Amino acid sequence: MIYSDKVMEHFSNPRNVGTLPDADGVGQVGNPVCGDMMTFYIKVKDDRLADVKFQTFGCGAAIAVSSMVSEMALGKTLDEAVKISNDSVAEELGGLPKNKMHCSNLGADALHKAIEDYRAKRAAGVRKGEAQVAHPAQKTDQGCPYCDGPIEGIEEYCKKCQVELEECAHCGELTNKNAEECTHCGARIA
Ligand code: FES
Repeated sequence: MIYSDKVMEHFSNPRNVGTLPDADGVGQVGNPVCGDMMTFYIKVKDDRLADVKFQTFGCGAAIAVSSMVSEMALGKTLDEAVKISNDSVAEELGGLPKNKMHCSNLGADALHKAIEDYRAKRAAGVRKGEAQVAHPAQKTDQGCPYCDGPIEGIEEYCKKCQVELEECAHCGELTNKNAEECTHCGARIA
């Protein structure tokens, strides 16, 4: 048998196959040697990979590699996940035949690209938030930052547009309590 038992097992029963329609990051790479393609989708929570899925149009070794990468990456912090290398994946799989080592290049590269994509999107969100802070919306005494209507009570609830507000722990500006990110600085709302 030219393939290890582990390669055969991951090829026959690949983990985490599929897509994530609401992925936080997507990474796609093609193998220049054979033209095969691999796409990784990630969901990130508290800087950890909360979900990882992949689609691979490639050989059996590439499928086993993607499956192994997805297993190795799940639950890791982003910094830990970017350390997963093509060599470490091949090693975890009990080795790959020499003429199939190029197939292992796809896995870690596609995962790293998905992480880069997530980080680029986050950075763009923060930059957008910073631009808004240049003209910050005013707090309670000057009205709702969304419609400029009157804000009521300690709970900070805009009577006019009905938005529930809270102070962002990061920049201190009033923002929509139910939004995922602060409208001013882009920080994630707990
Ligand atoms: Fe294309 Fe393996 S032969 S990825």
